[in-house]
This record gives sequence, C-alpha cells and structure tokens, in this order.
Amino acid sequence: MNSAEDEAGSGHSEEKEGSRRNFLKLILTLGGIATVGSFASIFRVLLYVPPANAGTNIPLSWPKVLIANASDLNVGTAIDFNYPLEETPNILVKLGVKAEGGVGPDGDIVAFSQICQHLGCIYAFVPSGDSPNCNSGYKASKPVGYCCCHGSIYDLINAANVIGGPAPRPVPMVTLSYDNTTGDIYAVGMGPPTIFGHGTPGTTNPASVMQADLSGGTLVASSTATSST
Ligand code: FES
Repeated sequence: MNSAEDEAGSGHSEEKEGSRRNFLKLILTLGGIATVGSFASIFRVLLYVPPANAGTNIPLSWPKVLIANASDLNVGTAIDFNYPLEETPNILVKLGVKAEGGVGPDGDIVAFSQICQHLGCIYAFVPSGDSPNCNSGYKASKPVGYCCCHGSIYDLINAANVIGGPAPRPVPMVTLSYDNTTGDIYAVGMGPPTIFGHGTPGTTNPASVMQADLSGGTLVASSTATSST
C-alpha cells in the first residue's frame, strides 16, 4: 500500500472509530434514560414524594370532602382517597369492631394517611386474619396497616399506634364527619402528627399541622374515592 492509500485507510478507520464512539454514546445515553425511568416508576408506586412547598395561598380551613356512603363499605376492604391534597393518599376502612375515633352506626369507620411515618412508603391495609403480600409469615390478629418497606405495623383499632417495625409515631388520622340521615362520610380535617414529608416530622400543634399538611400540592376539591383491596 502506498502512502496515499495509507492516508485514505487511516481516514476511513478514524471515521469508523468516530461512528463507533457515537454509537456507544447513544447506547449509554438510552440505557441511562431507561434506567432512570424504571427507577422512578418503581418508586412512584412505593415511595411518597412530597409536592414542592409553594408556601403561599394556604387555605385557612380544612376542606370538607364527600368520601363515600356507609353502604359502600365492607369489612375487610379499604377505599383509597386523596385528602387534603390531590397528592396525599389515605385509606377509609370499616373495621368491624368499635375503633378509637370511629364514626358510623357501629363506631368502626376510620380513615388514616397511607404514608408511612418511617421513610414515606405507602403501606397496605391488612384485614384481621390476612397476611401482607410481602410477608406471608405475618398474620394480622387485628386490622392493621402494614408497610412492606421495613415492616412497620399500625394498629388501626387504636388510632394507628405503632405495634411493630421502625415507624417513630402513628400515621395521622383523617377527621371524619358522618351524616346520620344519609350515611354519607366526609373528610373534614387531619389529626396530628403532620403527614410524612410535610413540615417538621412529628409536629402536633393543630395550627402547625394544618399549615404543613395544606402546603404545596393541589387542594382536593371533590371526592376521589375508588375501591381497592
Ligand atoms: S417506610 Fe415504612 S417501615 Fe420504613
């Protein structure tokens, strides 16, 4: 091969090398996007990410939102709803036994924030006698909230007291109002402590709880109730 051919050859191999590098860059970039996307989608399901705190336009009172009618409820099945913000999930349950703070004819209807007070995972409702999907070795002796992230257990009969795992405090109870005439159940506020991710963890002063829980996100304007198991 003469020197002109050598030059032409080396030009081609540089071109080839350049294309190969660009191709590898593209693969790595796409791979990165796919990995971040998968990570985010997994954690959207499991982990609560608080909305950005706008810090302004905080309402001065809790909204009153129709959640369900007592006739919609069955013992052992939870209804999911968001309150007081569109971003903050809760469960409404009829426990089948009189509960602390319970409403309705049997005093057994309660609602709680579904965001674990440990690190913010979304826990599952587990009826008495059942096991959570993540731990067949645990059988609930009463209706509980069970967090599959690190095993925190909330006693829903007794104001969500922590009866297992690392959660430092109960999840907040949703204040319910029951209409004796129609059987309608309304959410009318949140009890202490603050919802996980809102304000200072564990805050119990009612005014501070209201300010923290209503900060950031979008205030719920109408019922978002759906059936779940
Ligand atoms: S986040 Fe619930 S136990 Fe850790």
